[in-house]
Amino acid sequence: MSQFLPEAIQAFLPNTIQLVYLVATGFFIVGIRRLGSPATARSGNQLASFGMLMGVAVTLFDREIISFEFIIAGVVIGALIGAIAAKKVKMTAMPEMVAVFNGFGGGASALVAWGEFTRLDPTLFETQALVTTGLSILIGSITFTGSFIAFGKLKGFIPGGRIALPGQNYINLLLTAVALGLVGWFTVDPEYQLVFWSLFGLALLIGVLTVLPIGGADMPVVISLLNSYSGLAASMAGFVLGNNLLIISGALVGAAGLILTNIMCQAMNRTLLNVLFGSFGGGDDGGSEELGDKSIQQTFADDVAIQCSYAKKVVIVPGYGLAVAQAQHTLKEVANLLEEKGVDVKYGIHPVAGRMPGHMNVLLAEADVPYDQLYDMDQINPEFKSTDVVLIIGANDVVNPAAKTSPGSPIYGMPILNVDEAKRTIVFKRSMSPGYAGIENGLFYNEKNQMFFGDAKKSLQSLAGAIKELD
Ligand code: TAP
Repeated sequence: MSQFLPEAIQAFLPNTIQLVYLVATGFFIVGIRRLGSPATARSGNQLASFGMLMGVAVTLFDREIISFEFIIAGVVIGALIGAIAAKKVKMTAMPEMVAVFNGFGGGASALVAWGEFTRLDPTLFETQALVTTGLSILIGSITFTGSFIAFGKLKGFIPGGRIALPGQNYINLLLTAVALGLVGWFTVDPEYQLVFWSLFGLALLIGVLTVLPIGGADMPVVISLLNSYSGLAASMAGFVLGNNLLIISGALVGAAGLILTNIMCQAMNRTLLNVLFGSFGGGDDGGSEELGDKSIQQTFADDVAIQCSYAKKVVIVPGYGLAVAQAQHTLKEVANLLEEKGVDVKYGIHPVAGRMPGHMNVLLAEADVPYDQLYDMDQINPEFKSTDVVLIIGANDVVNPAAKTSPGSPIYGMPILNVDEAKRTIVFKRSMSPGYAGIENGLFYNEKNQMFFGDAKKSLQSLAGAIKELD
């Protein structure tokens, strides 16, 4: 587009473009910073999007673009898919959507490297451009196929359990070493096309083989890691193209993805190596507490309404089931009714409640729950001792005492919400089925606990009705 500008302006263009890139980077950084709190997340998202728009717009001047048809077609189709996905995809399906986006991001970076490799004479590339072309192909392709395998596992197209040959981890390590060797070979002999294509094919295969053996239950962590890979691949593509903004934004995504992966692993008390090379979840209840023939106490809306209405303090613990039932608005209605009766209502949020980081915060924000009522695990745990009733809505693993008491359990060591310290806990769920980790929950059999069976939304609707009738 620069060719359409007057010559005087063209002279300043390169510096102006770099300056705009710098400003756009500032928007990204402030945007990510603001994503750290529910109160500022929306504006953070808007700021980062605006930075992205600036970056894309100014790049159209940076490159000597001859034909805009493909760019316009790409923008229209991409915007359409993005808008439809944002409207239609359910909150509970967000990990799948992120997986697909990561896959396309990684694939795009690999295609950029491939495009530059075929468009230009690779023998004229500097060593740095050759190394980053090779790495872009490697990381981008692994991200592409790995993300689609993760998507398939979450959607259930691919069985969720470990699918692996004996010694699969060693095979994967060997293949990765060979792929890195091919990157080196490509760098010294870029003319040898077979090396380039072997690297491409091998990287696609590594993506499949490294994600297939990981249990479906660990897919959210894998997706976060692949998100980080997609950032690294984009950063490498930035080096290939000589585009500073792509280098920086890719590095930001890479670092953010890695930090998030680490936070998720810590909150589940797992190491990344254990996620990548171990097995977890998928219905294995090994190591769960021996519960013998302990019995449970069942309760119903009228009784729950009385207990909550006469309580001084009620803590609500939301979990994945709340998202499945889409009961956040009904939950807010129940909380409002209790507050009108003078009950102190708080929400205790476990860092890995739900299926993605911040899942519960987003869900409750959707129902306009005030941010100052949301307490994270460390803030709410000391409060349970003085709590009359804890309403556990569709949460399971995050309140499972096996994390503290059963050393063999897959969740052993995971910090949990100490709900059993409260005077009464009431669990809203449909059955006695286990949660994500696939293990039984001793809390359900605790003498202070009652089970309120049913879909969370329906149960909360009947609870709201029962509270109103008490007036
Ligand atoms: P879970 O342990 O998965 O338990 C959710 C419970 O919700 C289930 O026991 C299920 O029981 C119930 N449920 C499902 N649909 C329901 C409905 N319509 N109405 C009422 N209840 C319903 O959830 P959690 O306590 O939130 O724990 C999250 C788990 O996910 C942890 O193990 C965590 O490590 C893992 N994880 C989280 C993340 C992030 S970042 N959040 C990432 C990876 C893994 P019924 O079927 O009996 O109803």
